[in-house]
Amino acid sequence: MVEHASAAINEKGHLVFGGADVVELAKTYGTPLYVYDVAMIRNRARGFKNTFERLGVKAQVAYASKAFSSIAMLQLADQEGLSLDVVSAGELYTAIKADFPREKIHFHGNNKSEEELEMALDYEIGCIVVDNFYELELLQQLCKKKDKQVNVLLRVTPGVEAHTHDYILTGQEDSKFGFDLNSGQSEDALKMALCSPYLNVLGLHCHIGSQIFETTGFKLAAKKLLTKMAEWKEKYQFQPEVLNLGGGFGIRYTSEDDPLEPSRYVEEIIHEVKQQTELLHLTMPEIWIEPGRSLVGDAGMTLYTIGSMKDIPEVRKYMAIDGGMSDNIRPALYDAKYEAVIANRMNDPVEETVSVAGKCCESGDMLIWDLPVPKPNHKDILAVFCTGAYGYSMANNYNRIPRPAVIFVENGEARLVIKRESYEDLVKLDLPLTVSVENA
Ligand code: LLP
Repeated sequence: MVEHASAAINEKGHLVFGGADVVELAKTYGTPLYVYDVAMIRNRARGFKNTFERLGVKAQVAYASKAFSSIAMLQLADQEGLSLDVVSAGELYTAIKADFPREKIHFHGNNKSEEELEMALDYEIGCIVVDNFYELELLQQLCKKKDKQVNVLLRVTPGVEAHTHDYILTGQEDSKFGFDLNSGQSEDALKMALCSPYLNVLGLHCHIGSQIFETTGFKLAAKKLLTKMAEWKEKYQFQPEVLNLGGGFGIRYTSEDDPLEPSRYVEEIIHEVKQQTELLHLTMPEIWIEPGRSLVGDAGMTLYTIGSMKDIPEVRKYMAIDGGMSDNIRPALYDAKYEAVIANRMNDPVEETVSVAGKCCESGDMLIWDLPVPKPNHKDILAVFCTGAYGYSMANNYNRIPRPAVIFVENGEARLVIKRESYEDLVKLDLPLTVSVENA
């Protein structure tokens, strides 16, 4: 079982998470159910923030809200003094609805639409991370139209390969994101931006990938960017205020994963940045980072009810749950691995190996292969760990399965923060071809 700071077993043999009996939560709120331990999110946020403070480095820790965006979550991020990274009008709208401080919102994306850029300008958010030449042009036109100036960072692809799954690797040269550093595109972008009366270039941004367990890639990227900064300081008198090194800090999904503590990532990266800035005679820029997964990933779990089972003698035992790739697409998409327990039978001995199947009409809808568990019963509660990042945010309505509810738990108190989707919700955008007698 994955070690959880706040996971325990109570006298009934039930799993306790964030101080609450999860079997009771499943009974009260139904399943599938996402449950977040709020104290853990706060701890992670403080782990990043306090380390910068301790090292005396001016910083912004921006929550990458793509990992899990909801009004309550963004309010929690604000309570912890985090900034916010949004990548779409929808994420920005959620931030506005959460009353998130606008000057602390950063807008990302490789194809921001005119509407999205206008929205960012109208709300006067903190900065736009410009990704490409088309956006550079478009943003200036819109600023001119609105007679506004905007803070920008330039997103640079440093040509650094991080050790992670191919689909979540973004810092390498052959990437859809950012201005390429090696071919000189970044320098061209900088020249254009510096000439513009509408753009205030705060500095550079890079993001090398996701679920990264070591700091070599971050340090290499920082070194490359700082070297360029020094070069451009000489050439263009460009004095960058900000170096944004993105997110990507890994978490422990299973015992095979070996991530660092948030503080260690920050300490090692800052050590390198300080060394390089001294070497290159640069003023230490403000350091921004954008963790998503590492703030919410292991602070979330999903509860399911066990339903049908199929035993193919000498082959495999399947155990089906009342969710699947509709609430967690990561195993199907990335071959992601998870650990799970039967939450109402925590003290029972492990007797079987079962494979956890989702309920979607697709053979690939398998959540976990070969999970050791006590002999499962129908209606037992399965708790899958570490589903807090890219779970709800990538949930979908395949097979018209309603999206689950989300609960925050703190000091044993549960609070509903996203309602379960209803069947009515599922058809609310549908328009009929014929009017049935019932609806007439
Ligand atoms: N900043 C930028 C510019 C990003 O593109 C990302 C993630 C982050 C920050 C946050 O990365 P994190 O700290 O969460 O690793 N759906 C995939 C992950 C995609 C990540 C996309 N970008 C998954 O489920 O693993």
